[in-house]
Amino acid sequence: MIISDRVKKMQSSPIRKLIPYSQAAEKRGIHVFKLNIGQPDIKTPEAFMDAIRNFDKDVIEYAHSQGIPEMIESLVKYYKKFDIPLEYDDIIVTTGGSEALIYSILTIANPGDEILIPEPFYANYNSFATLAGVNIVPITTKAEDGFHFPLKEEIEAKITDKSRAFIIANPSNPTGAVYTRDEVNMILDICKEHDMFVIADEVYREFVYDGEKYVSFMHREDTLENVILVDSVSKRFSNCGARIGAVGSKNKEFMKQFMKIAQARLSVATLEQVGVAAIVDAPDYDEFMKEAYDEYKLRRDTVYAALKDIPGVVAKEPKGAFYNVCKLPVDDAEKFIIWTLENFDIDGETILMAPAEGFYATPGLGKNEVRFSYCINADELKRSMHILEKALEAYPGRTEIK
Ligand SMILES: Cc1ncc(COP(=O)(O)O)c(C=O)c1O
Repeated sequence: MIISDRVKKMQSSPIRKLIPYSQAAEKRGIHVFKLNIGQPDIKTPEAFMDAIRNFDKDVIEYAHSQGIPEMIESLVKYYKKFDIPLEYDDIIVTTGGSEALIYSILTIANPGDEILIPEPFYANYNSFATLAGVNIVPITTKAEDGFHFPLKEEIEAKITDKSRAFIIANPSNPTGAVYTRDEVNMILDICKEHDMFVIADEVYREFVYDGEKYVSFMHREDTLENVILVDSVSKRFSNCGARIGAVGSKNKEFMKQFMKIAQARLSVATLEQVGVAAIVDAPDYDEFMKEAYDEYKLRRDTVYAALKDIPGVVAKEPKGAFYNVCKLPVDDAEKFIIWTLENFDIDGETILMAPAEGFYATPGLGKNEVRFSYCINADELKRSMHILEKALEAYPGRTEIK
C-alpha cells in the first residue's frame, strides 16, 4: 500500500509541532502560556447558542450546497457594513475559511501553476497549495519594514505564464500587517494587467488598530471580477469550532465552477449555520464586537510595549489581527523555544511560542523569528513577555542580530 506523494510532501503545522515539549513541561507541573495558537478565548455570542437551543425541527437535514438562506442573508447584511458589494448569488457558505481556500485554489489553478503569496504567511496556505499541486512563489516581506510589500516591479518580476493568483491575508496572520489602500490597489492593478485572481483572505477585518483603515480587495469596481473573498466567523465571532466560512465573488464563472465542488461535498453543518445566522441581528452585536476589539487592542499594546524594550529583539507594532512576528537574538528560534520549555520557568510558569520558519516558503528565512498570538489575557501576556526577556538573558545560545 502507498501513501500519496502529495500528502507526504505536506509540512507539519509549525503552530502545533512543539506541543509535545509543552505537554512534557506540564507533566513536570509547569504552567505553559500558549502563545502559539490563534484560538480566541473570548466568549462566543449568546445569540449563537440561543438559536441552536431554539431549533425545533425533528430531522437535521442536508442544507443547500450554497448554504441555508438565513446564513447567506446574514452575510449579505454583514458585508454591507464594510461596503463589500456581495449579494446572495455571489456567496457560498463553506466549512470554515479553510474549505473556501482549498476549493478556491482547486477551482483556479492546475497542477504546476503558481500562486504568489507575501511571506511570512499563514502556514496552511502551504498545505493547501501542496494538496492542489500548486507552487507557491513567495514575495518576501520583512519585520524591519512592518511586513509591507516591496515595489511593484519586484512583485511583477516574479510573474510567469504559470501565475494564476495572489493569496493575501489582510490584516495578516502571522505578521499583523494591514495593507494600505495603495498596496491593495497595486495588487489589483497587477491582477488586472496579468489576468490573475487575488484570493483575499480578510477573516481579521474587524481587528485593525491605531486608526489604520482596512481596505477590502472588493473596494474597487473595475477589478471585482478578479477578486475571490475568503471569509470566516472563527475569529470575529470567537467561533472556531462552528466551522463556518464563506467564499464570495462577483466572477460568475468562478462561482459556477466552485459550486460543483460545493455540491460534491453536499453541504455545510446545518445547526452551526442556524447559530451563526442569528449573530448579526442580535441586539448586543455592536457591544460584542467592541468588547472583543478593545480586548485584542489591549493585548496587542501589552505585548508590543514589553517586546520593544527587550534588548536584542526586533519587533514592529502590528496594526491588525492578533499576532506578531519578531526577531530574537538567537540563531535558531525553534531550539530556543524548546530550551525554554525544557529549562526555564519563573515561579512555575513558562511560554510556548511558534517558530516562524514554517511561515516562510524561502528556505532559511525566519530561522531567528517567532510568532505570538494574543489569545490569553493581558495580565498573562505581561507575565509571558517577562518570561521571554529573562529566558533570553539566561539562554546559552544567545547571539546578537546582525
Ligand atoms: C489568515 C487565516 N485564514 C484562514 C483561516 C482559517 O480559518 P477557519 O478555517 O477556522 O475559518 C485562519 C485561521 O487561523 C487564518 O488565520
